[in-house]
Amino acid sequence: MSNRNIAIETVSLVKTYTAYDRIGFFKRVKKRVKALCGVSFKVYEGEVFGLLGPNGAGKTTTVKILSTLLLPDSGDAYILGHHVIHEATKVRKLIGVSLSVERGFFWKLTGKENLKYFGMLYGLDGQELEQRVNELLEMLGLEELGASNKLYEEYSLGMKARLSIARTLLTDPPVLILDEPTLGLDPPSARCLREMLVQLAHEKGKTVLITTHNMFEAEIICDRVAIIDKGQILAVDTVDGLKRRVADVVPLEITVYLPAQTSIEHLTRILKRDTNCPVKIFPEEKGHRIKILSSPDEVDETTSRALKSLYDQKCNVRKVEVKQPSLEDVFIKLTGKTGFR
Ligand SMILES: Nc1ncnc2c1ncn2[C@@H]1O[C@H](COP(=O)(O)OP(=O)(O)O)[C@@H](O)[C@H]1O
Ligand SMILES: [Mg+2]
Repeated sequence: MSNRNIAIETVSLVKTYTAYDRIGFFKRVKKRVKALCGVSFKVYEGEVFGLLGPNGAGKTTTVKILSTLLLPDSGDAYILGHHVIHEATKVRKLIGVSLSVERGFFWKLTGKENLKYFGMLYGLDGQELEQRVNELLEMLGLEELGASNKLYEEYSLGMKARLSIARTLLTDPPVLILDEPTLGLDPPSARCLREMLVQLAHEKGKTVLITTHNMFEAEIICDRVAIIDKGQILAVDTVDGLKRRVADVVPLEITVYLPAQTSIEHLTRILKRDTNCPVKIFPEEKGHRIKILSSPDEVDETTSRALKSLYDQKCNVRKVEVKQPSLEDVFIKLTGKTGFR
C-alpha cells in the first residue's frame, strides 16, 4: 500500500465551532464546540476509503474542509498534492462532492435537465454535454428506472442518491468525496450504490472517500477505514487489519427487553462494573442488543455474570450468542471500557 500515490491527505486538522445555548427567551450563551482535535489520515489513489464514526464524530466537518467549503482553525489538507486552502480553485477541479443527497437540485426540472444545468456550470456544452449526461444516466441506472425524464420532485430517495452521484461524475474528476451516500436508502438502492462506488474505484481508478456511521457498510465496501470519534482518529487500517485488533476478544451478544424505568446508560455502567469488560448497548427494533467483549478464556464466567446482573435489573433475556469479531467490536474496544457514549 505504502508505495501507492497519496490522493487525499489531512494533517492535524483542528476545527472549533461557535454555537449558542438559549436561556429563556432573549438570552444566549456562547459556547465552543470542538469538532476536530487534530485529524490526520492518508487516502491512496484508487481505493474506497471510509471515515467511520457515530453522529457528531466530526465526519461532515472533515469532508467540508476537504471540499474547500469550510476553513479549519489549523492544520492542512491536500487533494492530489494540492492544498485545499491555498490552491482551492485547482482542488475544486479535482473533486466531485456530494454532501447531502438532495442538496441543490431543482425540483421542477427532470433528472436529465438537472444534470445538463450543472454540466453547463462546470463548462461543458453541446454534443459533449449531451453525451456525458446520457452516459451517466445510463451508468447510474436512472435510464433503466425511467427516471431521466421524470421531474426531480417525483424521484424516490434512491433515485435522488443516484442522481447526486451522477452529478459528482460530470467532469470525470479523479477524486470523489461523499458524505453518508447511502443514508436513509432502502436496502436494494444502498446495495446498488455501494457496488457502484467499488466499481468506480477498482475499475475506473477513482479515489472514493465516503463517510458512514454504518459499520456493516464500511466493512463490505472499504479497502481501508479510519475510525473517528469525538474529533479524533482512533485507528486507520484495512478492515482485516482492524479486525486483527479484536482477535483477542470474544464478542458476546445478549438481546433483552429493558424494563421501562431502566436507562441504557445505567445498564451499561452496571454491566461494565460486573463483567469488567467493554460493553455497548444498541437499541433495536425488537428489544436491546448488548455487546460485551470478553477475553476468550472467561467467556462462560462473563456470560454468567452478565446474566446475573441482567436478572437483578429485571431485564427479560431473549437470546445469548457468541459472535465472530466485526468492526463494531473494534470500535467498542478502541473507545474503551469507559467513556463510550
Ligand atoms: N455549524 C455548526 N455550529 C456548531 N456546531 C457544529 C456545527 N456543525 C457541526 N457542529 C458540531 O461539531 C461536531 C461534529 O459535527 P459533524 O462534523 O457534523 O459530525 P458528523 O458528521 O460525524 O455527525 C458535533 O458536535 C456537532 O454538533
Ligand atoms: Mg455528518
